Amino acid sequence: MAKDIYLTGITTTGTPHIGNYVGAIRPGIAASKDPATEHFYFLADYHSLAKNEDPDKIARSTLEIAAAWLALGLDTKRAYFYRQSDIPEIPELTWILHGMTAKGLMNRAHSYKAAVQANVEEGGNDPDKGVTMALYSYPILMAADILMFKSTKVPVGQDQKQHVEMARDIAQRFNHHYGEVFVLPEAVIGEDTAVLKGLDGRKMSKSYNNTIPLFSSEKQLRKLIMKIKTNSLEPGEPKDPDDSTLFDMYKAFATPAETREIAKRYAEGIAWGEMKQLLFEYINEQIKPARDEYQRLIDDPAAVEAELKKGAMRAREIATPYLAEIRQAIGIRGLV
Ligand code: TRP
Repeated sequence: MAKDIYLTGITTTGTPHIGNYVGAIRPGIAASKDPATEHFYFLADYHSLAKNEDPDKIARSTLEIAAAWLALGLDTKRAYFYRQSDIPEIPELTWILHGMTAKGLMNRAHSYKAAVQANVEEGGNDPDKGVTMALYSYPILMAADILMFKSTKVPVGQDQKQHVEMARDIAQRFNHHYGEVFVLPEAVIGEDTAVLKGLDGRKMSKSYNNTIPLFSSEKQLRKLIMKIKTNSLEPGEPKDPDDSTLFDMYKAFATPAETREIAKRYAEGIAWGEMKQLLFEYINEQIKPARDEYQRLIDDPAAVEAELKKGAMRAREIATPYLAEIRQAIGIRGLV
């Protein structure tokens, strides 16, 4: 059997937070150590155009996300680590895929439908208000990311599953029309425990503004953890671990044995203040070693840039000849 190829993108629209760490970065780096598989991780900066974000914010986010993965020990000699916009073959393939993408398929994308729904609820007369073509065809760019490197497995959150299925649909239609050019990808959805809750108890997400930045200073990390929402049970009253953001967070970092130990403390009525202090110390201990390296990289963007450029060179060794094949297949060819 051929090697499985894992590929996933990270949009460059925010500061890496501990939810990203637990859900994507930590498992990604761990998985990339397995020699039986290949791994592609990239900064999906062109995707950020869908929402017309602030340019400086995108540039800063690119630096921060790249520095985070590097500081946490991603081995860039093995894993492919690059920035989408450094691979011109990707936007080129995106256009090629437009020719094989049904408009009706894009109409069904959850993210587009949600934008339309919001407009309708607002009661205005344009259901497409604020919807750019970059938002509308976002799944096609994502399909190009995925198909460009013949990935078989695409680790994503539940909210991105439909996009991966669309990539598969597009690839299938293309293959039917032009012959077996693309490998069909499959989404890999992380387990429930990999979705961390934020300060307010909702899913930790930059869009809810409830995140804990992964490389907060020790002081800031402590302050944020102290802010996590709890109920009003007093010290000594038994508490339910299954209904506690603090517990979920602890569980995401600790071993199963340590987690069981804390569940016992809940039953015994641990005070929220003590639990917060304990959680802070635990997370801080794990993050500390990478924090200094992260800061060093943030202060040396040239080093990060060099890593990304190296990654792009390696990735293009695959993308350039493959795109030439794809162009042949569709009749975009030299005349002689
Ligand atoms: N859309 C994904 C997200 O918002 C990021 C992404 C872009 C991606 N291209 C991808 C994920 C390709 C997996 C594969 O999380």
